[in-house]
Amino acid sequence: MIIRTIVLLLTTLSFQYTFANDELAEGGRIYDKWWAELELKKPQGTHVGYSPGGKKSGADTWRCKECHGWDYRGKEGAYSKGSHYSGITGIRKYAGGDVKEVMKILKNKHHQFDTVMFDGALMLVAKFVVNGQVDMQKYIDDKNKQVNGNIRRGKKHFENNCARCHSDDGRAMNLAHDADKVEYVGSVAAKNPWETLHKIRNGHPGSRMSMHRGRRMGMMHNRYGGWEMNEAMPAMLSELSEQEQIDLLAYTQTLPKK
Ligand code: HEC
Ligand code: HEC
Repeated sequence: MIIRTIVLLLTTLSFQYTFANDELAEGGRIYDKWWAELELKKPQGTHVGYSPGGKKSGADTWRCKECHGWDYRGKEGAYSKGSHYSGITGIRKYAGGDVKEVMKILKNKHHQFDTVMFDGALMLVAKFVVNGQVDMQKYIDDKNKQVNGNIRRGKKHFENNCARCHSDDGRAMNLAHDADKVEYVGSVAAKNPWETLHKIRNGHPGSRMSMHRGRRMGMMHNRYGGWEMNEAMPAMLSELSEQEQIDLLAYTQTLPKK
C-alpha cells in the first residue's frame, strides 16, 4: 500500500516536472521566434521598441532574442557589439522574478505584444523569463566562446539525442539560411554557443505545430510517396540536466565546421 502510494506520487511528480518543462520550453521557443512557434502571421515593419541606433529592421526586430540576446544579457552580453547591437537591456534581472510583472512589461509601450499574441502565449514567455533562463556566463567564456563542459560525456548525449537528425558528425543538414552558404551543427556551435544552448534546451520554433497537426509519429508523406521525418527539433529541458546540456554543447563545438 505504502509502496503503491509512493510510486503513484513519484509518477505524478515526474509527470508534472515534464509538463512544467514543456511549458518553459515552449516559452523559450516563443522568445526565439513567436510567430513560427504559434503559427501566427509574420509581423510587418520594425517593432516600436527597437532602438534607432540598431542596425536591423523588419520582422527580426519583433523577436525577443533580437533585443535581449540569446544569452538574455542584451547590451551586456554577446550583443554588446556587432550587427545585432541595439543598446537594449537584458532580461536577467527578471530570472526568479514575478510572472505577472513580466506580463505587464510585455504589454507596455515598448512591447505592445498584446496586439499580436493572446494572453496564454504571453504567459508562457513570461514564465520562460522567470523560470526558464540559464546563467550562460557561468558556462560560456565571453571572449573566446569556450564552454566548460565535459566533451567525452557530451558525445554520448549527442549520439543519443541529436544524431538521428543531424548524423554523427552534425553535417546531415545544411543549417544556413542563405542557399549559397554552408552551416553545420559544429560551425553554429562554435560561432554562437549561446544560440545553440538556447536551442538545445528549448528546441526549434515549430515543435508545437507538428504535434498539433497530428502527423503520425512526426512522419509525413514525401513527394516520392514514401514517409519521411517531419519533426521539429525537440527540447532537452526534461531529457538532460543542466550540466549534461553544457557537456553536449561543449561536444558540438568539436564537430566539423565544413
Ligand atoms: C524591439 C525590441 C524589443 C523586443 C522585440 C522585446 N523587448 Fe523587451 N525590452 C525592450 C526595451 C527597450 C526594454 C526596456 C524598457 C522597458 O522596460 O519596457 C525592455 C525590457 C524588457 C524586460 C525588463 C528588463 C529589465 O531589466 O527591466 C523584460 C522582462 C522584457 N523586456 C521581456 C521581453 C520579452 C519576453 C520579449 C518577447 C516577447 C521582449 N521583451 C521583446 C525592447 C524589446
Ligand atoms: C527531429 C530532428 C532533430 C533533432 C533530434 C535535433 N535537431 Fe537540430 N535541427 C533540426 C532541424 C530540422 C533544424 C533546422 C531548422 C531550420 O533551420 O529551420 C535544426 C537546427 C539545428 C541547429 C541550428 C539552429 C539555427 O537556427 O541556426 C543546431 C545548432 C542544432 N539543430 C543542434 C541540435 C542538437 C545539439 C540536437 C540534440 C540535442 C539537435 N539539434 C536535435 C532537427 C533536429
